[in-house]
Amino acid sequence: MTTHVSIDPSILYFGTPVVLVSTVGADGRPNLAPISSIFWLGHTAVIGIGRRSRTMQNLTDTRECVLNLPSVDQVAAVDRLALTTGQSPVSDRKLAVGYRYEPDKFGRAGLTAVSSTTVAPSRVAECPVHLEATVADIYMLGGDEGGAAAVELAVTRVHVDESLKLAGTANRIDPDRWRPLIMSFQQFYGLGDRAFPSTLSSIAEKWYR
Ligand SMILES: Cc1cc2nc3c(=O)[nH]c(=O)nc-3n(C[C@H](O)[C@H](O)[C@H](O)COP(=O)(O)O)c2cc1C
Repeated sequence: MTTHVSIDPSILYFGTPVVLVSTVGADGRPNLAPISSIFWLGHTAVIGIGRRSRTMQNLTDTRECVLNLPSVDQVAAVDRLALTTGQSPVSDRKLAVGYRYEPDKFGRAGLTAVSSTTVAPSRVAECPVHLEATVADIYMLGGDEGGAAAVELAVTRVHVDESLKLAGTANRIDPDRWRPLIMSFQQFYGLGDRAFPSTLSSIAEKWYR
C-alpha cells in the first residue's frame, strides 16, 4: 500500500516528447524552438506554446510549421537552444531567468536546415522524424490573462529516417527503434525497454486511419 500526500507543484510536466518547432516569420526569418507540450490524435497534433514566444507570433502570421522530433542522440543540440528566444526584445520575465535573444537558432544549435515539401519552414536534417503541418486553429488558454495557447495542427507530410521503419512494412514505425527524447520536470530522459505485452496492439494500425 502506497502513501499519498497532497502537494502543490508549480508545474505538472510529468513527461512528454521533445519537439523542435520550425517556423518562419512574416518577414521570412526562420525560427526553431524546443517544446515538449504535445499530443497527437490521428493526423492532428496539438502543441502548447507561450503566447509571447516568437514561435506563437510566426504560427499566427504564417500558419505553418515543421515538428522535428529529436531522438536522445540530439539532446546536446536541443540543450543549446534552451534559454534562447527569437523574439526581440526579450521580455523582462524571461530576462530575469537568463533567456537571451538568438536570431540564428539553427547556427546556435549546430543543426542543418533542409527544405520541406508541403510547407515553407525548413526541416532539421539531424532529427529522425519530421512532421510538416499547417495551423488549423489556435485556442487561447486561461482567457485574456493566460500566457499560453494550444495550437491545433494538421499534419500534411511525414518524413522518417529509413532505419525507423518496421521491417517489411511501407508505412509503419518500429517502436523498438524509435528512441524519443523525453522531458520530465525540466530534465532530459530516454525511454526504457518495452514494459509489458500490450493488449491494445492487437488492433491493426490501419484501423485508425
Ligand atoms: C526541452 C524544452 C521544452 C520546452 N517546452 C516548452 C513548451 O512545451 N511550451 C513552451 O511554450 N515553451 C517550452 N519551452 C521553452 C521555449 O523553448 C522558450 O519559451 C523559447 O524562448 C521559445 O522560443 P521562441 O521565442 O524563439 O519561439 C521548452 C524549452 C525546452 C528547452
